Amino acid sequence: MTQNLVLGIDIGGSGIKGAVVDLTTGQLVGERLRIETPAESTPQNVAGVVGEIVNAFADQIGDGPIGLTIPAVVTHGRTRSAANIDPSWIDAPAQQIFEQALGRGVVLVNDADAAGFAEVKFGAAKDNPGLVIVTTLGTGIGSAMIYRGMLIPNSELGHLEIDGYDAEKRAAASIRTKEGLSYDEYVPRLQRYYETVEMLFWPDLLVVGGGVSKKADKFLPKLKLKTPIVAATLKNEAGIIGAAFLAVEGAA
Ligand code: BGC
Repeated sequence: MTQNLVLGIDIGGSGIKGAVVDLTTGQLVGERLRIETPAESTPQNVAGVVGEIVNAFADQIGDGPIGLTIPAVVTHGRTRSAANIDPSWIDAPAQQIFEQALGRGVVLVNDADAAGFAEVKFGAAKDNPGLVIVTTLGTGIGSAMIYRGMLIPNSELGHLEIDGYDAEKRAAASIRTKEGLSYDEYVPRLQRYYETVEMLFWPDLLVVGGGVSKKADKFLPKLKLKTPIVAATLKNEAGIIGAAFLAVEGAA
């Protein structure tokens, strides 16, 4: 048992996944545990499931805080938004709810911030010395901005208004599926999205994460941008790894 082993838990719309992360290597130690997200995904119900995951790994970790992700803006331990989760998270004292339910310290961060931070530490943007923007294309669009290794939390670039739309309502991976778009039909939406992000923020590197990044060869080569754009490499472990790191390196 050492300080280098930290539990990261990624709370998503369909599953809550946890694993112990070795902070010296960024690798998961052993298997992930995944439990379905409760149908009524209120803070109390989710805290119950998180408690089951913590119990399963309790003998492998120390007394320090664990890292948790949530698909919401998080400031000072409070969840401030709920774009694709139960509305009861809005303005909930989420960190306090988790700490009371678990009887231990918790660092709570936005899901895309955790995934993006992990990509800079160990994945597609490892050691990038400039401004990296990681976007996750899933049910919504999440984003992480990392400048010289420092996370600028809660960037929420999935909610840029582009051509009169909330960007994630046009360009999230879930919208491609819902509207039955082929990748060729989806590419112009991604092009419009990423060229807007590029024009506003001028990153040194764009990273595309989320489940759809497994199919990156179907759309990334077709995007015409000034900025290099690459697929994330940590796949569905990025949130867990980032959460564990941020538990130690500081909360949003
Ligand atoms: C939310 C973000 C979240 C992203 C990915 C967006 O709708 O506003 O907070 O990071 O979805 O889950």
